[in-house]
Amino acid sequence: MTGLMLACLSILPTMAQWGRPVDYSAGPGLKDAYKDYFTIGVAVNKHNISDPAQIAIIKKQFNSVTAENAWKPGEIHPKEGVWNFGLADSIANFCRENGIKMRGHCLCWHSQFADWMFTDKKGKPVKKEVFYERLRDHIHTVVNRYKDVVYAWDVVNEAMADDGRPFEFVDGKMVPASPYRQSRHFKLCGDEFIAKAFEFAREADPTGVLIYNDYSCVDNGKRERIYNMVKKMKEAGVPIDGIGMQGHYNIYFPEEEQLEKAINRFKEIVNTIHITELDLRTNTESGGQLMFSRGEAKPQAPYIGTLQEDQYARLFKIFRKHKDVIKNVTFWNLSDKDSWLGVNNHPLPFDENFKAKRSLQIIRDFDPVADKRVPKEDFVPNPMNQPGQEYPMVNSEGFARFRVVAPDAKSVIVSLGLGGRGGTVLRKDKDGVWTGTTEGPMDPGFHYYHLTIDGGVFNDPGTHNYFGSCRWESGIEIPAPDQDFYAWRKDIPHGNIQQVNFWSESTGKMQTANVYLPNGYGKLVKGKNGKLEQTRYPVLYLQHGWGENETSWPVQGKAGIIMDNLIADGKIKPFIVVMAYGLTNDFKFGTIGKFTAEEFEKLLIDELMPVIDKQFLTKPDKWNRALAGLSMGGMETKLITLRRPEVFGYWGLLSGGQYAPDEIKDPKVVKYIFEGCGDKENPDGINKSVADLKAAGYNAEGLISEGTAHEFLTWRRCLYQMAQSLFK
Ligand code: XIL
Repeated sequence: MTGLMLACLSILPTMAQWGRPVDYSAGPGLKDAYKDYFTIGVAVNKHNISDPAQIAIIKKQFNSVTAENAWKPGEIHPKEGVWNFGLADSIANFCRENGIKMRGHCLCWHSQFADWMFTDKKGKPVKKEVFYERLRDHIHTVVNRYKDVVYAWDVVNEAMADDGRPFEFVDGKMVPASPYRQSRHFKLCGDEFIAKAFEFAREADPTGVLIYNDYSCVDNGKRERIYNMVKKMKEAGVPIDGIGMQGHYNIYFPEEEQLEKAINRFKEIVNTIHITELDLRTNTESGGQLMFSRGEAKPQAPYIGTLQEDQYARLFKIFRKHKDVIKNVTFWNLSDKDSWLGVNNHPLPFDENFKAKRSLQIIRDFDPVADKRVPKEDFVPNPMNQPGQEYPMVNSEGFARFRVVAPDAKSVIVSLGLGGRGGTVLRKDKDGVWTGTTEGPMDPGFHYYHLTIDGGVFNDPGTHNYFGSCRWESGIEIPAPDQDFYAWRKDIPHGNIQQVNFWSESTGKMQTANVYLPNGYGKLVKGKNGKLEQTRYPVLYLQHGWGENETSWPVQGKAGIIMDNLIADGKIKPFIVVMAYGLTNDFKFGTIGKFTAEEFEKLLIDELMPVIDKQFLTKPDKWNRALAGLSMGGMETKLITLRRPEVFGYWGLLSGGQYAPDEIKDPKVVKYIFEGCGDKENPDGINKSVADLKAAGYNAEGLISEGTAHEFLTWRRCLYQMAQSLFK
């Protein structure tokens, strides 16, 4: 169902939970959700620890804190003998007071560094021994001041070279690129500065976890450079305890395999990995360099949000899988407002107003069972596919698999997926084709869906189209345990569905209805007095929902097949079903509260019914006439039957609200009331209403459809059940 449809239906009491703003932070904090996995951290600035609202977020969600800038050598120790402990102490004290442990970031880095360490008072370069003395003093001072609250130190940050530079210029000459970043540190000391920094840190803090931290660890070259360096250092006895993978990624990158490759590689040499600086840019940049400019906040397109949620979900699934070695995951900044990447990158689970995004919920509410779930490989083409089309496919458990050819697209999203997610994000396979499988089994029955390719909406060329959200959409059918009742059977006689076009004066247009005529309709049979005559039939007027039309019940609703099966099995006496367009798609968004169904009442009773009674063999009276509808068609049914009880003798609401006894007032005006919905909708409301109606003397029946929501399997089941009690 589309968002608009949900929003439109939100005034129905059965669906009051829909269409309201959702508080994605409701529920446990991330730190609690991940207590059996790893600690969850955040990098903070001075505002984050001064504003009560932001403090509340930190305390609820995180159990690890990194100072974003305040502890960096260039900030805390900008000149020889000059120490800026102010903000650094505030952050440490905030953590001490709140019992939060810290990651110490960082002791030695080429950027934001205490560059004075490289020169003497006259500006001349110092010898490496002088540099080491200064670095040792720096590291000892910082570590001793804060080690009571710190559990891990980023001792050396970003010492390795980036990918993509096989050669480089050193002193004017082109030489094969060094695995090391050509920092002042490296130029002065070679890689010995790395060993020294770790040794100084270990002297000052014998128990803290000492980390080598870097970005783009998932790049093949950089991964190997980091691996080789750490391996070499460890073999030489340098106290490196773990590797920090910064994790400045984006919504398209990295692939899970690439991330796992890095984790598995590092696992060979360390038993601690921290994801130290996680954020997901919404462009294609990544890594520790920043190219994107900040600027005024622009809203994030919904499909970009979906890609980001999906990417967070994928990454955390991998992190959880490797919880044996991953001990911490830290977000780099609290909210999009704070992000070093700029607010327009929207990279974090909290937005620029510190409101939780759906990403937060998706990261938090993971399902450990789903983490291990692998679909059964018995996929077959979906029965709704166009002839010869293999995809989409469905397996016996209800997983759906998609394949879309769009070679130059940047993203392909299928709107279908498990609850709470924006759909299933496809990935380009090795042949350049977009493929993907739903995360789990879908609800049984029929689902509308579409593709979002780079933000544009398209149908899946694999399937037939179904009128479902004011337009023709793709559809898929997931096998249901009880699917025989709507299966086409070759062993029984079939009725047919006829299209009727008629002029509607009230709408000034031709209107259309589809009419189901049972098998044998129009045949001459011997009547009571032995004369040959034609049988006349009762009529059910059966309405579709918002966004749908007169084709929805006959096609995706399978109304005709359901009728044929009921008649053939002797469960009902034949009757006619009229499925007309119910004018549900023309009202303006946001006005459903004022929806009266008066236009449709006119069309139905004054224009359509006379045509039906004239053209077909009907029994044209109230006790042979029923009105029922699904969703918004249920609203129409309720409004019209209450206003015109003299016209219809049987009433049905299918996920379309309920009647209350005092709305009807007289049990004699209606012979039978049906109310139904899926168990994922509002079963309590239906059960209560049916009980109240019965207690007040009405012949009422309810149906709660098992394992379904606001979708067509619910309504197929409702029709099957309701039909058996009509016209008795
Ligand atoms: C960033 C900060 O977030 C910015 O405020 C600052 O201007 C530059 O540094 N890798 C790191 C972090 O290890 O320290 C960097 O933090 C982001 C990249």
